[in-house]
Amino acid sequence: MKYDIALKAALALGWTAQTFALPTNGSEYSIPSEAYVEVGIDPTNTSAPWRIFKTATFNPPDMRITHNGDSLQDGYLFMTPWPQAGPDTKQSAGFIMTEDNELVYCVPIVGVHNLRVQTLNDTPYLTYWHGTNARIGHGYGEVVFADDKLSNFSVNPALDIIPNPTVYDLYGNGANGTVGDVDIHEQQMTNRETILVTAYNNTPFDLSSVGGSKDGWIVDSHFYEVDIATQEVVFSWRASDHLDQIPFNTSRNAVVGPESNGTASSPWDWMHINSIELVGEDYLIDCRHTWSVYLISHVDGSVIWHLDGETGGDFGKLPLEATFRWQHDARAHNVTSTSLDLSLFDNHNSDQDHHSTEAGQSKALVFHLDMPVNDSWSATMTRRLLPPQPFYADAMGSYIPDIGNGNQLVGWGQVAATTEYGPDGEVRYHTAFETPETVFSYRAYKQVWHATPADWDPVLVVENGKAYVSWNGATDVESWSVYRRCRLQV
Ligand SMILES: *[C@@H]1O[C@H](CO)[C@@H](O)[C@H](O)[C@H]1NC(C)=O
Ligand SMILES: *[C@@H]1O[C@H](CO)[C@@H](O)[C@H](O)[C@H]1NC(C)=O
Ligand SMILES: *[C@@H]1O[C@H](CO)[C@@H](O)[C@H](O)[C@H]1NC(C)=O
Ligand SMILES: *[C@@H]1O[C@H](CO)[C@@H](O)[C@H](O)[C@H]1NC(C)=O
Ligand SMILES: *[C@@H]1O[C@H](CO)[C@@H](O)[C@H](O)[C@H]1NC(C)=O
Ligand SMILES: *[C@@H]1O[C@H](CO)[C@@H](O)[C@H](O)[C@H]1NC(C)=O
Ligand SMILES: *[C@@H]1O[C@H](CO)[C@@H](O)[C@H](O)[C@H]1NC(C)=O
Ligand SMILES: *[C@@H]1O[C@H](CO)[C@@H](O)[C@H](O)[C@H]1NC(C)=O
Repeated sequence: MKYDIALKAALALGWTAQTFALPTNGSEYSIPSEAYVEVGIDPTNTSAPWRIFKTATFNPPDMRITHNGDSLQDGYLFMTPWPQAGPDTKQSAGFIMTEDNELVYCVPIVGVHNLRVQTLNDTPYLTYWHGTNARIGHGYGEVVFADDKLSNFSVNPALDIIPNPTVYDLYGNGANGTVGDVDIHEQQMTNRETILVTAYNNTPFDLSSVGGSKDGWIVDSHFYEVDIATQEVVFSWRASDHLDQIPFNTSRNAVVGPESNGTASSPWDWMHINSIELVGEDYLIDCRHTWSVYLISHVDGSVIWHLDGETGGDFGKLPLEATFRWQHDARAHNVTSTSLDLSLFDNHNSDQDHHSTEAGQSKALVFHLDMPVNDSWSATMTRRLLPPQPFYADAMGSYIPDIGNGNQLVGWGQVAATTEYGPDGEVRYHTAFETPETVFSYRAYKQVWHATPADWDPVLVVENGKAYVSWNGATDVESWSVYRRCRLQV
């Protein structure tokens, strides 16, 4: 039993005190049960189809699912659907769902993104970002950890940034104001009881070298390593301290363009950091707007090497089919002193080149990079996963090259779909919202998770002879016992 099981009840079948000899000692009957499925449809298609329950007001997306029958990795799907420009997802929230679209958990607060399982002190926790969304691509919030009883604590350090309150726009999904300084894009655990987070800082800058105003404004890309127990910052980095290695002109985002105009109310997001990961002692960061992945030295914050999606950066020119742009979720694998494998989600599209001849489909890529960097060495593309149908995701997205059994998971970000590929790249499972162009999820994960909420709050609704029961977030319930009080006839 996962959620909202309809118990086809004997309650309606003459099970009364007069005709049915109920035992007086409260023993149980086994009653057939099944999943209850009701789908809400908006005839104007303003909201994508959603699931409806008798016992709860949650409205996760109703999805189209295909599965080729090959084995899938165990676990639940984690996603955070949210609207692009209006209330076009019925509920914007953090959802954990089964492969067949049964809701397991809805995080019962608004403003949740990047929901997944991470491990702290060998204990699995649900982690999620909670905060207020900025209008253009970032946010201000905190990191929440919830344990297997679903009791939570937050990591909410004060970071040296200035958020811009004028860009807050919550699409009606939450309270206004600042929850904290941590940005949506990354909350990545390390193996040393710290967490890596992104933050976006509004700050004045002379932009005349790149065609902007001398009194221009940028939204700068920062990242921090934060000690979880003390909430102290143990490492911090900001991109504009390294303009000698990463000049403004490496940005592919126009100062004055569809995303900004370089003023205080619409600062230039020149770099747009969206993932961070510890590699050895150093930091691997992914920056959408410079089309580059950088390894940042933990000693002085300098760039050790960078892979540029167009020029190749330190690795020499990439073949056309290996080029990437506007990418997300760069991760290192198989790290040794002589090489590493680098995976990323290649959006290859943005508002600025959407569906242009240069923009290919979004895809997942893996590169084999020789180390240490040497001018004569290049990046070799070793994997390239195209979507099951052409997708052009302007923003967001995630790629995990091995989710446990060798299968691979791609979350298509702005295109609300998730694909599980086999180890050799064949599509095994695909799930999409019915109107994928209007709803999307920052990332997607598939992970094993167990929880039994500390609060005893299952909900039972009896209607027309059926009993409906659910318990938000309880993963390991195997059966329910339903009792009916009756008066004995004498
Ligand atoms: C309850 O009563 C039934 C019928 O009299 C009996 O078979 C069953 O063993 C009893 N259960 C318990 C737990 O005492
Ligand atoms: C809504 O979407 C469905 C499925 O894509 C389509 O068949 C239908 O025509 C759409 N309705 C409107 C009013 O756009
Ligand atoms: C943490 O748990 C409490 C108690 O269940 C709940 O009220 C609160 O909304 C949770 N906070 C977050 C940020 O999820
Ligand atoms: C947040 O601010 C917007 C714009 O001022 C307003 O329309 C909306 O009602 C506010 N939402 C809340 C929850 O206060
Ligand atoms: C970018 O700016 C740097 C200095 O800030 C300069 O050396 C370099 O030539 C510029 N590159 C291009 C392509 O304009
Ligand atoms: C810049 O963009 C903001 C937000 O869209 C707008 O309010 C402002 O008028 C623009 N300023 C200029 C100089 O274009
Ligand atoms: C890691 O190395 C193994 C063994 O060479 C290889 O099969 C696998 O594809 C590599 N992982 C990635 C993400 O490239
Ligand atoms: C770069 O690698 C080539 C081939 O392995 C080697 O001949 C050359 O000495 C290396 N250059 C440096 C600067 O390490």
